[in-house]
Amino acid sequence: MNYKILNFTVFGDVRGSLISLESNKSVPFEIKRVYCIYGTNPEQDRGKHSHKELEQIVVCLNGSCSFVLDDGKKRAILTLDRPDVGLYIGKNIWREMKNFSEKCVIMVLASEYYDEKEYIRDYGEFLKCLES
Ligand code: TYD
Repeated sequence: MNYKILNFTVFGDVRGSLISLESNKSVPFEIKRVYCIYGTNPEQDRGKHSHKELEQIVVCLNGSCSFVLDDGKKRAILTLDRPDVGLYIGKNIWREMKNFSEKCVIMVLASEYYDEKEYIRDYGEFLKCLES
């Protein structure tokens, strides 16, 4: 499946920790957009879509949440709970976000500007697109 766990280099000392993310270096694409999700509700799942071209890296900066990834054949469930780990999600992966902890903060680095036309928000359509 087209996803990867990225372990970022942490510069840590008695003052705390620092992580630096750079386009085409620790991040395997040119970053065109950054967005954050916060104020989530453990009862309310998010995501439930795929992207035709978009690549993303998801980092859980605080708290934790689960990602369900699906390529039409297999499903993987991952928990993100630390800021020095990124979840790379390639194109044509259905994703669902669940089990948001209290004060969960998610940062997403994206390879393209926001474009609603590029989303597939229907699971049946997602499966159909994989065949073509
Ligand atoms: P949505 O796709 O439902 O969030 P998620 O699937 O990550 O839970 O997006 C919520 C709203 O935010 C929707 O109206 C689209 C808008 N939006 C933008 O305007 N720009 C963006 O970069 C993103 C990710 C969403």
